[in-house]
Amino acid sequence: MSIILGIESSCDETAAAIVQDGTTLTSHSLATSLQKHIATGGIVPEVAARAQIESMIPVMETTLTGSNMAKQHDARHAQDPHSPIPDPRSAITAIAVTTGPGLVGSLLIGIETAKSLAYAWNKPLIPVNHMLGHIYGAWLTHGQQMEKHWPKLALLVSGGHTELILMESHQKYYKVGWTLDDAAGEAFDKAAKLLDLPYPGGPALSRLATEGRRTAIKFPNPLPQKNNFNFSFSGLKTALLHYVRQNPQASKADIAASFQQAIVTSLVTKTRRAADYYQVKEVVLGGGVAANKELRQQLVSALQPTPVQIPAMEFTTDNAAVIASAAHYHHYPANIFEVNANPSLELPLKTT
Ligand code: KG4
Ligand code: ZN
Repeated sequence: MSIILGIESSCDETAAAIVQDGTTLTSHSLATSLQKHIATGGIVPEVAARAQIESMIPVMETTLTGSNMAKQHDARHAQDPHSPIPDPRSAITAIAVTTGPGLVGSLLIGIETAKSLAYAWNKPLIPVNHMLGHIYGAWLTHGQQMEKHWPKLALLVSGGHTELILMESHQKYYKVGWTLDDAAGEAFDKAAKLLDLPYPGGPALSRLATEGRRTAIKFPNPLPQKNNFNFSFSGLKTALLHYVRQNPQASKADIAASFQQAIVTSLVTKTRRAADYYQVKEVVLGGGVAANKELRQQLVSALQPTPVQIPAMEFTTDNAAVIASAAHYHHYPANIFEVNANPSLELPLKTT
């Protein structure tokens, strides 16, 4: 059995979670410095890193005291006040931490915390790629059912990355598609800024889109060539800029709905194409943009009859449970003194 304490601090979320056997979340805590970034309309790395320092200890404390182990102690304590205080060291089998990609100042706070705990508690330390973590939201949501269908294709859509990962097994996985410029979340964020919507743009733009018509404006379909699994969203952003300048009276809701549709169409089309090409048995969705309802619905219907595993909302945006889950399936402890932040860490590429 594995009981892994995961730590995530790659951007503006400070999170810790305890996950059993890769699929059962037993305790977690998350703090976000989002409010600080609303004022600046985007993340200032120095501000995010400082917030990581402030939040890390309280988040860790809540996670450790909120664990099942601690709750069982509280129940015992009610009957016997002299019952021993639980020691997290005895139950936790490993500590996992995001080492990249992300903002270096933010990453280092989680990494140094993880290293200190692993050293003090004499536990293995497992470095985890943040994007690999995003895949495992589906395992936390659907459990053992996830082991049924292989190979899989994961569509990972976040603020910094948009990737298609072919998974032959937990251990054999390759990047087969990626964005040539902006990430899907970044496109949402930039479009929202143009429409004077608050940061983060994704949720704000998708809320406004519910009031608009998705067919109102025809935005370009980027990289339409066959057998191409890459994405490009910067042209869409430019098309949006031109449209807004030329049509200052246009309905913002229509613009939001049409722009969102252009992004969703691109994501869904390329995923369908790669799923067919690699003949996968299942598609997995992950990352912050996986919270987008249109993307969830349209992906499921476009991929039929291939099943699409959608993560629960709490496992879409950044969190530590997915990091602990990924570490269960990728249990490669590292030398504590060699673990370091790698802001541009990549998943392996498919070479053939
Ligand atoms: O994975 P994530 O939490 O952080 C990164 O690793 O980047 O993703 C954050 C991104 C942001 O760009 C945010 O605007 C986007 O996810 N996002 C959404 C939605 N919720 C979050 N994009 C579209 N629709 C949403 N509902
Ligand atoms: Zn993320």
